[in-house]
Amino acid sequence: MQHLTVIAFVAASLIASIPHAKSADLNSDKQALLAFAASLPRGRKLNWSSTTPVCTSWVGVTCTPDKSRVHTLRLPAVGLFGPIPSDTLGKLDALEVLSLRSNRLTVDLPPEVGSIPALHSLYLQHNNLSGIIPTSLSSSLTFLDLSYNTFDGEIPLKVQNLTQLTALLLQNNSLSGPIPDLQLPKLRHLNLSNNNLSGPIPPSLQRFPLSSFLGNAFLCGFPLEPCFGTAPIPSPVSPPSPNKIKKSFWKKIRTGVIIAIAAIGGVLLLILILMLVICIFKRKGHTEPTTASSKGKAIAGGRAENPKEDYSSGVQEAERNKLVFFGGSSYNFDLEDLLRASAEVLGKGSYGTTYKAVLEDGTTVVVKRLKEVVVSKKDFEQQMEIIGRVGQHQNVIPLRAYYYSKDEKLLVFDYVPSGSLAVVLHGNKADGRAPLNWETRVKISLDVARGIAHLHAEGGGKFIHGNIKASNVLLSQNLDGRVSEFGLAQIMTTPQTSLPQLVGYRAPEVLETKKTIQKSDVYSFGVLLLEMLTGKAPLRSPGRKDSVEHLPKWVRSVVREEWTAEIFDVDLLRHPNVEDEMVQMLQIAMACVAADPEQRPRMDEVIRRITEIRNSYSSSSGTRTPLEDRPETAQAP
Ligand SMILES: *[C@@H]1O[C@H](CO)[C@@H](O)[C@H](O)[C@H]1NC(C)=O
Ligand SMILES: *[C@@H]1O[C@H](CO)[C@@H](O)[C@H](O)[C@H]1NC(C)=O
Ligand SMILES: *[C@@H]1O[C@H](CO)[C@@H](O)[C@H](O)[C@H]1NC(C)=O
Ligand SMILES: *[C@@H]1O[C@H](CO)[C@@H](O)[C@H](O)[C@H]1NC(C)=O
Ligand SMILES: *[C@@H]1O[C@H](CO)[C@@H](O)[C@H](O)[C@H]1NC(C)=O
Ligand SMILES: *[C@@H]1O[C@H](CO)[C@@H](O)[C@H](O)[C@H]1NC(C)=O
Repeated sequence: MQHLTVIAFVAASLIASIPHAKSADLNSDKQALLAFAASLPRGRKLNWSSTTPVCTSWVGVTCTPDKSRVHTLRLPAVGLFGPIPSDTLGKLDALEVLSLRSNRLTVDLPPEVGSIPALHSLYLQHNNLSGIIPTSLSSSLTFLDLSYNTFDGEIPLKVQNLTQLTALLLQNNSLSGPIPDLQLPKLRHLNLSNNNLSGPIPPSLQRFPLSSFLGNAFLCGFPLEPCFGTAPIPSPVSPPSPNKIKKSFWKKIRTGVIIAIAAIGGVLLLILILMLVICIFKRKGHTEPTTASSKGKAIAGGRAENPKEDYSSGVQEAERNKLVFFGGSSYNFDLEDLLRASAEVLGKGSYGTTYKAVLEDGTTVVVKRLKEVVVSKKDFEQQMEIIGRVGQHQNVIPLRAYYYSKDEKLLVFDYVPSGSLAVVLHGNKADGRAPLNWETRVKISLDVARGIAHLHAEGGGKFIHGNIKASNVLLSQNLDGRVSEFGLAQIMTTPQTSLPQLVGYRAPEVLETKKTIQKSDVYSFGVLLLEMLTGKAPLRSPGRKDSVEHLPKWVRSVVREEWTAEIFDVDLLRHPNVEDEMVQMLQIAMACVAADPEQRPRMDEVIRRITEIRNSYSSSSGTRTPLEDRPETAQAP
């Protein structure tokens, strides 16, 4: 015994000491993946390249912790189409999870894929795979999802030996023949509905609900209607052919029974129709149980309790793949993933509700569900095209994708974790949120000014944001300001000018003529500057001490002839030596909110003037960078 151990140990160390033994394995995985990618045409390009590291930079690929083998391959909805090339994925013999769902794969599933020894989860649903289900399946399988394909033939008896199986999902295929007697103690999810299976449901599977079996015309027994006649329970050794069952089944039926069957059939049909109607209303998506379902309320799952909160309810089944992406994004999901993501309401604005959606693979995006869009589909698409193109600037939140149908319009944006300027400026200080210091406010002002200036410069100078306000300025992790909601004003019905929460930002000419010009954005930006200087929100809310409805008027009335410090945010006055700069900024702000649009500076002029403040700042205080004194402000209550 001891000798054996020693020999094994020596052998093991010998193997370990052979140079590159491990990387050779990873290398063979890499070659297999490259061969797979090379022989499969696809819609979107995979960023796999032989010169980049497999484990850290190939999309969809995850390795074992020691980076010696490929462990997971997930390429859901990347537009793969055609047959899965044989002799490629089968070589990944350390692979445990394979997801190629929601692509357009065709023809058979190569047998060596299902039999990868370590494979425990196989997700191939929503493809166009056909042929029989391979009989060689890995005995490690715990999750097998082949639903929504066109597999035919019988359910292989080999499934009986998959003792680790917890989920077997085969719905919406063309499987026929009897259901094998599956004595699988761990099986928790079973769906065989919408196939062409026949014969009695074996006792071992009668614990599953009706909806696991519906849509198989020749299936009987609990939980479906009882079987008539003496159709034998198919034995696993010699399953009777479906035709045989049918014969012995029908031969013994007398006329009376036929009438009974007709009646029961009618009732069954009714139940079926009812179930279908319920299904259509619920349209409950199946979730891969590993991630999304455990991360809180799945959008699809939460539909029943809270239909209004759900951005997926207006999405038509037939239009599920019409999520339109723009270039420049590395996102890798489809509408189905989006609808399945767990969602959280971020806010309800004048254009609709905004959600934070966390997808199965951890990707987080913001989904805006528009209400009251007035324009036609064509105009909408054109506008989206503009938003997508013009929004490519570091100080603008880019639109990544959109979805349009008659009943539902969804926009997908990057998720920006720190929230909006409105929340950071006026949020509850009791939450322990540190007030923004002066340098950060200057930097955000400059970011926003650059974002607006970019929009104004594009399209031959014809674009207007039309809705500049603190809640439309989002802050990144390191507090870079980015302008959101560009281009939406043009397609929405809501008369923005009359909304009370927006009046404070509206230039006088907008309130009078209901028309916006670029100089109206300059006015709104001036109000935003005043808001940052005073810490007061330009809201019509008499109860709130930190709000003033007409901020420019109020500032003018306080300031009168000479610039005074009275108006400044007390949080700012804590910092020494910034008052000069605040006065300079106040002058810029007051120029922006001039009543006559002609008197207001253009955005590029505003940028130049703010940059001068910053320059004077950095020259007067040496090497300190604008964000360096944040810890100091963090101590404030
Ligand atoms: C490929 O895409 C993934 C995810 O989008 C990214 O993390 C990775 O860095 C990219 N790799 C390369 C080589 O560009
Ligand atoms: C699936 O494949 C069949 C033939 O194998 C073809 O007729 C059908 O159009 C395909 N469906 C899709 C959605 O590609
Ligand atoms: C299932 O496993 C048993 C014993 O492990 C074996 O005898 C039998 O042939 C297997 N059945 C199939 C269909 O592979
Ligand atoms: C599944 O099959 C049923 C019955 O044929 C059909 O009503 C349903 O639309 C199918 N589902 C999908 C997603 O194809
Ligand atoms: C369903 O199975 C029966 C035999 O059980 C067969 O006669 C019929 O053609 C099959 N239907 C389809 C659509 O495959
Ligand atoms: C099985 O799939 C059908 C068709 O997609 C669905 O209607 C039904 O609810 C599913 N049943 C279970 C138990 O998941």
